[in-house]
Amino acid sequence: MLPFSQFDSHGRLQHLITLEGLSNEQVRELLDRSQRYLRRPGEMPARGHALEGITVGNIFTEPSTRTRSSFELAARRLGADVINLEIMLSSRVKGESVLDTIYTLQAMAVDVFVIRDAEPGVGQFVAEHVQDHVSVLSAGEAHLSHPTQGLLDALTILQFKGGFRDLVVAVVGDVRHSRVARSAYQVFSALGVGELRIVAPDGLMPEPAEMPGTVRFSSLEAGIAHADVIMMLRIQKERMADAAIPDSKDYFARWGLTRSRLKLARPEAIVMHPGPMNRDVEIASDVADGPQSVIRQQVTNGVAVRMAVLEQVIANRNIRRAGR
Ligand code: NCD
Repeated sequence: MLPFSQFDSHGRLQHLITLEGLSNEQVRELLDRSQRYLRRPGEMPARGHALEGITVGNIFTEPSTRTRSSFELAARRLGADVINLEIMLSSRVKGESVLDTIYTLQAMAVDVFVIRDAEPGVGQFVAEHVQDHVSVLSAGEAHLSHPTQGLLDALTILQFKGGFRDLVVAVVGDVRHSRVARSAYQVFSALGVGELRIVAPDGLMPEPAEMPGTVRFSSLEAGIAHADVIMMLRIQKERMADAAIPDSKDYFARWGLTRSRLKLARPEAIVMHPGPMNRDVEIASDVADGPQSVIRQQVTNGVAVRMAVLEQVIANRNIRRAGR
């Protein structure tokens, strides 16, 4: 078998499991498509017909509010049928029965599988076994990858900052366990962010060999000084042994983004958080709701990005089917 590729034989995106290896042009194309689905506040959300006749199956085995509902809305607003399933794939990924599940759904003409799972490799495993016309999109893979989150974060920065090259971006908190941080790193690498900082307590830093080209800070104050973008991360308690979980009060005292600390960043700096937030643990509640916060815009952008990704893989499938 050929090594797995998320691109089809023409080099077009068939699956989206990771942002690793996407070129600047491929990322830009997805961001351009996403922008077409953005509307002003109060306007009717964008709709289209690109997914008419298509069925999208959401298979989420980890909790999700934003990602699952935005994938569902994105698919419906483009005219797809949607089914939501809560079946465990991970515990069965090494056996064949996961394939029974997938083949069963494929036999009902599910064309796109959207998969979130705590175990690495589930999305790729499914993608390796589906038919040529079927796509698999990751909605969060263990601590490794959350590609549509990376894209929506990039879209949000583009919206507020107009570009990437001159920016100082600080990714702050539990970077070690964060798939959001890894996908951010990959998308920012493709886009060429000016300076990318990893700001984390020692125990929550990624491995030394990970994320080459970033600048590491083990102090919050130094790490956010003069930053244009501050991306806060949730402490991923579910990915830590109990003994390693930091005390919330102590964490907030040293690592919480407060109003006074935020003053160290550029005056027009934006504050991001993928959600769900631990208010007054990694981020002060008044900062989360404050004038520099773009957290709700990230959520809005998530729908547009997922519409763009769905549209793109279906457009590519139509090209494959037409034999071009
Ligand atoms: C993130 C996730 O699930 O990876 N949330 C999200 O998708 N918006 C981040 C998190 O859980 O902390």
